[in-house]
Amino acid sequence: MKSDYPLPPGLMKRENFVSAWPGRIQRLDTVSSTQEEAKRLAENGAPEGTAVMAEEQTGGRGRMGRKWHSPRGKGIWMSLVLRPELPLSLTPQLTLLAGVAVCTAIRTVTGVPAGIKWPNDLLAGGRKICGILLESSFREGGLHYCIAGIGIAVNLTEEDYPDELKTVGTSLLIEGGGIPVDRMRLAAAVLTELEYLYTLYIAHGFQPIKVLWESMSVTLGRQVSVNSSRGRTEAVAVGLDEGGGLMLRSSSTGEITSVLSGEIELI
Ligand code: BTN
Repeated sequence: MKSDYPLPPGLMKRENFVSAWPGRIQRLDTVSSTQEEAKRLAENGAPEGTAVMAEEQTGGRGRMGRKWHSPRGKGIWMSLVLRPELPLSLTPQLTLLAGVAVCTAIRTVTGVPAGIKWPNDLLAGGRKICGILLESSFREGGLHYCIAGIGIAVNLTEEDYPDELKTVGTSLLIEGGGIPVDRMRLAAAVLTELEYLYTLYIAHGFQPIKVLWESMSVTLGRQVSVNSSRGRTEAVAVGLDEGGGLMLRSSSTGEITSVLSGEIELI
């Protein structure tokens, strides 16, 4: 399956894009977490686009303080240094951008029809195939750097999952009918998509990313249960607002509100 870009005319086309990130890609064997390695590099001045990939993580981290299962040689466990000049309030847009990039790369390289669950989980066959963790560091009141952590379950088999993940997690191998995926080819596609979308974002703002995200979403039009700082509510997800928050229409009152962070369950 080829992913198409429903972008307004006048924007730089994907095929005209030339990579310009100065950062290098570091391949490591076993690390605690690629997030920590990338942070260390960023603190030491590593330029934008510096990426750290590991064969295995012994202390892989997910959102909300969860552990991230990262067995040896089975996935893409990667963290990328970004240095955008953005106000803090806009960093959630980068998470959505990363989701679009990974979703596009997965569809293009493997043909697995992945979709995005807000804010940034990628699902295939109703189960999670990828998670994204964006962490930001601040200096002198401004954004210093962001680390975009990407975990893709590439060649895991059912046996590679601990019991508690067997029903919620899946892999590209499982969803692709048992065909192993070349991890390096997929990682290269993810980095190229990310750089292209990031360049588009810096030049044209969030609008093109919003259009792409909405076209790849498995959340919109669905009844969802939302856990946010305001408690738990049920609503229909109707779109992204201009900031990247999820717009919800309350099932009881019909009122439209947005959530910027939190977790949702598809009902
Ligand atoms: C989530 O869905 O909870 C986010 C998971 C993010 C996992 C990736 S794997 C590479 C990077 N290193 C980590 O420790 N976490 C991220």
